[in-house]
Amino acid sequence: MKMSVIGTGYLGATHAACMAELGHEVVGVDVDENKINQLADGVVPFHEPGLPEILRRNLDTGRLSFSTDYADAAGAHVHFIGVGTPQERGSYAADLKYVHAAVDTLVPLLEGEHLIVGKSTVPVGTAEELQERVDALAGPGTTVEIVWNPEFLRESHGVEDTIHPDRIVVGLRAGSAAEPILREVYAAQLAEDIPFLVMDLATAELVKVAANAFLATKISFINAVAEVCEASGGDVTRLADAIGHDDRIGRKFLGAGLGFGGGCLPKDIRAFMARAGELGADQALSFLREVDSINMRQRDRMVHFAKEDLGGSVMGRRVTVLGAAFKANSDDVRDSPALNIAGQLSLAGAAVSVYDPQAMGNARRVFPTLDYADSLDEALAGAELVILATEWPQFREMDPVGCGQLVAVKRIIDGRNVLDVDAWQAAGWSIRALGRSL
Ligand SMILES: NC(=O)c1ccc[n+]([C@@H]2O[C@H](COP(=O)([O-])OP(=O)(O)OC[C@H]3O[C@@H](n4cnc5c(N)ncnc54)[C@H](O)[C@@H]3O)[C@@H](O)[C@H]2O)c1
Repeated sequence: MKMSVIGTGYLGATHAACMAELGHEVVGVDVDENKINQLADGVVPFHEPGLPEILRRNLDTGRLSFSTDYADAAGAHVHFIGVGTPQERGSYAADLKYVHAAVDTLVPLLEGEHLIVGKSTVPVGTAEELQERVDALAGPGTTVEIVWNPEFLRESHGVEDTIHPDRIVVGLRAGSAAEPILREVYAAQLAEDIPFLVMDLATAELVKVAANAFLATKISFINAVAEVCEASGGDVTRLADAIGHDDRIGRKFLGAGLGFGGGCLPKDIRAFMARAGELGADQALSFLREVDSINMRQRDRMVHFAKEDLGGSVMGRRVTVLGAAFKANSDDVRDSPALNIAGQLSLAGAAVSVYDPQAMGNARRVFPTLDYADSLDEALAGAELVILATEWPQFREMDPVGCGQLVAVKRIIDGRNVLDVDAWQAAGWSIRALGRSL
């Protein structure tokens, strides 16, 4: 099937390449010329394991192409929208200007029957509103239907999650004839018996934000319990193991630490609250305000711990922050807790050295005033305090003895609860972790 993917960022580039891998003929369109040139040259402009191979393989077969010209999308009849929906400046709401721009540019170029399949995360009601917009823009004799197919991929597992998702959710308006087309798009997944859940537009839009709100709540729940563990002498990691054995609860997303960040969870829970408010249901989601503030508080607590460990002030002290990406195996620094604490410590006068295996380029762009080390060893050299802020395997597996020979003082805060505390203590380190009295 011929299809276009509008917006080729983390979501769109992955989706475009994976749809081509499944045998479709795909053109990816983006307004960012640099990004399109890289993708067309077989270079993935971000870190996503497995994607470079799929990109190059499908460029070679000719099934996948990239363009900045929307006219190249008009030959397809299925168009995925994967542009960004960031938090609006000065409010909690989602900014839909990129979604509007994509539709406004695409629809006047279309002739015949077309399907626009929204994948971006949007407030409930967006698809209905877009349908009115495209109806006004479509030329005579052209019909364009909007459906919503929210995306659940996790960065760093993007390829696997796109080719073998755990479910496919499709929102259609009453009387829609789009289901067979979508079944053809996802024929490979349907052959694997992956659940294909068809529902109304509003429910499909809500599924995505509800899922993210639940995950955010689970993380903030354990971080709130971590604070009580610290106050009472408990150990949140043992507690999480114990409650996680209950399969109604589950151990996933109960890793206490610096909390969530990235380009999705924080802005999605805020946009969910904002939309509920517009709908007159703001009380229903007021707990998400607390989820958000527990999450942001972990960053402040980490900075507070650093100050405490260094005798009340970080002024002039050498602090190493390990990690800049919002999570391991990603180079995404959007709303990254690691970069946030590195920035806060730097602004408080610390000499901060940051190291991340993949996110240095993005981190430098967002926070150019921090010092970036070229290697883990260089980052550790002379440190008076080390903070593990992103759970990269390279940091989890650090040798406490070897690291001890590089730093000035053997003092570490494990912001992700991933280090073997006994091993670090045995090597003479003073170690501190969120939610544990060590
Ligand atoms: N990143 C994820 O893991 C993920 C997962 C699920 C859902 N989502 C949702 O997907 C959407 C995109 O997220 P992302 O992380 O890929 O963002 P991103 O910033 O990486 O990519 C967005 C892309 O859209 C392009 N764009 C903006 N305006 C455009 C226009 N008018 N025409 C064509 N392209 C345009 C940008 O240049 C950029 O390349 C968001 O709604 C996000 O919430 C993301």
